[in-house]
Amino acid sequence: MFEVIYYSWSGNTKKVAEVIAAELGVTAENVKKKRGLAKDSFVFLGSGCYASRPGKKLRRFIAENDFKGRQVALFGTSGDGKGNEVRAMEQLLKPKGAIIKSSFYCQGKTFFLFYRGHPSQKELANASKFAKQMKEAQTTKEEKAVGTKGRKNIRKPKQSKGKKKKKS
Ligand SMILES: Cc1cc2nc3c(=O)[nH]c(=O)nc-3n(C[C@H](O)[C@H](O)[C@H](O)COP(=O)(O)O)c2cc1C
Repeated sequence: MFEVIYYSWSGNTKKVAEVIAAELGVTAENVKKKRGLAKDSFVFLGSGCYASRPGKKLRRFIAENDFKGRQVALFGTSGDGKGNEVRAMEQLLKPKGAIIKSSFYCQGKTFFLFYRGHPSQKELANASKFAKQMKEAQTTKEEKAVGTKGRKNIRKPKQSKGKKKKKS
């Protein structure tokens, strides 16, 4: 089960959260209204970057919830697009025992309308791809967890001999 939780002051990170949630088939939730986490959920946490860190409410949410052994993927937007908010989230989550699977960040337009047009359609498409990769990795894990009986029904695709898969 996936949960997508975000803090977004001016809406950029919300856009990213929504494409990620759509790919995962869930609803993105604003951290302001979020109370607690579902047991064993794989959590996507996202925030804009404010003075090189994630928003205060997101930081508080990390501090107040249990992340021990929990799979987490991070996302963020910022003016410079360098991902400082994501690294700061990682620093907060690691001591709490979270398993950071991967992260995604991109530019977001800023208050003086610098970087207008961000996150762009391409950046949003990349965010969606990121969610898809995490979903596929999760599926593999669940398949592995299926007992011997169930495993019989999971077939490996046949590999054609001598042919290399072309890179798309
Ligand atoms: C108070 C404030 C501080 C910010 N600090 C930074 C910063 O340190 N580095 C950066 O790259 N962008 C910074 N930005 C730009 C935001 O990170 C960027 O606009 C981001 O996409 C905002 O996300 P949001 O629309 O989800 O709130 C700042 C914006 C605000 C409003």
